[in-house]
Amino acid sequence: MSAFRLAHISDLHLTPPPRRGIELAPKRWLSRFAWLRKRHRHSSDVLATLVADLKAQRPDHIAVTGDLTNFATREEFAAARRWLEALAPADQVTVSPGNHDALAGARGPERFAEWRPWLGDEGDASFPQVRLRGPVALVNLCSATPTALHLAQGVLDAAQLERLPQMLRRLGGEGLFRVVLIHHPPTAGVVSRRKSLRQAPELAAILRAEGAELVLHGHAHEASMSTLAGPQGPILVLGVPPASGAAGHGEAARWHEIEITAEKGWQVRVTARGLGAGGEMAELGRYRLAAAMEGVAQG
Ligand SMILES: [Fe+2]
Ligand SMILES: [Fe+2]
Repeated sequence: MSAFRLAHISDLHLTPPPRRGIELAPKRWLSRFAWLRKRHRHSSDVLATLVADLKAQRPDHIAVTGDLTNFATREEFAAARRWLEALAPADQVTVSPGNHDALAGARGPERFAEWRPWLGDEGDASFPQVRLRGPVALVNLCSATPTALHLAQGVLDAAQLERLPQMLRRLGGEGLFRVVLIHHPPTAGVVSRRKSLRQAPELAAILRAEGAELVLHGHAHEASMSTLAGPQGPILVLGVPPASGAAGHGEAARWHEIEITAEKGWQVRVTARGLGAGGEMAELGRYRLAAAMEGVAQG
């Protein structure tokens, strides 16, 4: 059986359009100061190079786990939309928003209405959303929420926590490979408390009971691999560095190609591609997610 190839990118932090007028939200101007300090960490040239490399590999689907913007302004949302339109057809790209995408502005599902075609197939901006693609069910959560100054925490609201168990159970019963998308890492210790997912224990309890085959996240700005307990064995949790990460400033740009094959259970192979020593895109490593997949029965 041919493999389903899922590309994972995160934390684009697209260079913001020039500022117009005065930012009224304190969180936005604080964040703008932070960005002025850190802007050299993200490069639009690097991002363009990474996207060209990703497109050349022709993945079946692309998961974007948040922080497309920096301050969540209307101009940035529109710019991110144009960037997504150029990336691939909307039914081949799924976006889970990040804390920077929710920095200020209105609450509620309509916050991400501009990105609706990339959130899921429901046609609205509610979460969780499910997308069925080949053997894969993408379960898209939203942990993006406005927070107090100096915090970058994530929140899974009650509606998502209530709908998720049944959703995972049904998709698992259908024998699909469930990939959960969320901006904030759900595993304790991957990021500091200031940046953590507040409902991480609740999400871990749901995953322990209902299972999932893989969790993909961003937010940490570094590659990470951890596990959460599942009903039939550990569930792998993968994080990827920023897609716009400039060389010499933290972890450089990288994306993951995740190959999923339904063969004697599930076979999962991850290829990490990113900025090599010469500043060009290169294969950084390739590994098989073997241990965690043992005991995960294919229905
Ligand atoms: Fe980020
Ligand atoms: Fe983030």
